[in-house]
Amino acid sequence: MDKYARLCKAAIDMRSRSYAPYSNFRVGAAVLTSDGHIFTGCNIENSAFSPSICAERCAVSKAVSEGYKLFDAIAIAGAPSGGSLKYCPPCGVCRQVLAEFAGGDLTVILARSETDYKVYKLQDLLPLSFGPDDIAGIKT
Ligand code: THU
Repeated sequence: MDKYARLCKAAIDMRSRSYAPYSNFRVGAAVLTSDGHIFTGCNIENSAFSPSICAERCAVSKAVSEGYKLFDAIAIAGAPSGGSLKYCPPCGVCRQVLAEFAGGDLTVILARSETDYKVYKLQDLLPLSFGPDDIAGIKT
């Protein structure tokens, strides 16, 4: 199995861990670090709604908290519970979080299966993003 297929499978499998009693929309994500590790995440909703976290940010948080901050790719798999997988794009907040650690070169994979997926670059999904280089130049 090639690396994108493995990443897609990891994201798809993580949907089973999704905690989404309010939307019933299950999302799994898997990030591939530049040295080949995979960290997975799922969406975790909350009865107060705003504390909910998306699958992508869950996966990134797990990776960063374990000391991994360089990413090559992320696979995302999302659909309503019981429904068939669509190409599920990352929300705007997750795009911004991905840009913090991965930059525009990050490969973003929208997975419907291990063999059916679309590949994008983050810079095409979040052009002209505000990032670490921008804040470094800001003086108060
Ligand atoms: N969701 C994600 O996990 N990732 C995204 O990028 C889009 C949305 C989750 C949040 C919420 O739990 C559910 O999908 C419906 O919006």
